[in-house]
Amino acid sequence: MKMKKMLAILLAFCMLFGMAACGNSGESEGEGETAETKTVGVCIYKFDDAFMTTYRNALEAILKEKGYEVTVVDGNNDQAKQTEQINTFITQGVDALIINPVMTSAAAQMIATVKEADIPTVLINREPTADEMAVFEKLVYVGCDAAQSGTYQGELILETANQGDINGDGKISYIMIQGDPENIDAKLRTEYSVKALTDAGKTVEELDLQRGDWDRNKGQEIAANDLAKFGDQIEVVFCNNDDMAVGALQSIKAAGRVVGEDIYLVGVDALAAALDCVAAGEMTGTVLNDAEGQAAKAVECMEGLLAGDTYAAGEQSVYVDYVKVTPENVGDFM
Ligand code: GAL
Repeated sequence: MKMKKMLAILLAFCMLFGMAACGNSGESEGEGETAETKTVGVCIYKFDDAFMTTYRNALEAILKEKGYEVTVVDGNNDQAKQTEQINTFITQGVDALIINPVMTSAAAQMIATVKEADIPTVLINREPTADEMAVFEKLVYVGCDAAQSGTYQGELILETANQGDINGDGKISYIMIQGDPENIDAKLRTEYSVKALTDAGKTVEELDLQRGDWDRNKGQEIAANDLAKFGDQIEVVFCNNDDMAVGALQSIKAAGRVVGEDIYLVGVDALAAALDCVAAGEMTGTVLNDAEGQAAKAVECMEGLLAGDTYAAGEQSVYVDYVKVTPENVGDFM
């Protein structure tokens, strides 16, 4: 107790008269900072992804603001390349890793690698199975419950005037533009968007399902082909993400169709471009995939791990909520 009091007085004295007076030169102060600076390696599956660009920028900003030394690398959608990047970070001795896996199927190997090196790791955006994660207690996944975003997309259609059945033939005819199907987000959004309709007692007809790999140009192409092939039969265009929806919208307009009148269009992410479309009535709605919220949560979990937190098997997924975005509430997100 006495010692603590003395230290407190000494500290107050230093603050009053400046560090120099206490013999703490600028140089040694700098050294002190360096010794405390923690290094973080961030692996992103590919930089050329609209949503992950927002996410990565948020992540980098938060980490830098908190004083971490951050290196962010581009996996170029190549798992072999990302594996190398992880190994390099390990060799460099980073204090923590934040990884957005290229392939979910590579997660088990990745987890074995970080466990072997004993590096606290936060996985983001592509969720492995609970069993895969269970082998390493200094590992956590931060993301969203992909099924929820699918359900919200279905609900957006059910909330329209004719509940998705524009031509009144008793069924909702849709095309599904899917992300990378290896990714659980793509699988669950595809499944749950339609499930929301059938759970509400609706009859559905799938005219087409194509993979657009989260990519705007592919979304545009797929929609253009389907609109040429199925014409007015298409009542709903489900896109697993906004970038593909923004692409699809270009084809919808080019085909002379009008969203909200003779076709519905939904995405996920709430990208700035998509929010503009929702506000203008050119998209029926989207779902906020909270990049800032997930980035903040990922950093929070990383700091927990650095402070010694461990995760029990079956409790290694931390979710941030999705939010439904409609023309009514879009202003809240812009
Ligand atoms: C999803 C997001 C997509 C894409 C994908 C990458 O969560 O909705 O736009 O970024 O992650 O894995």
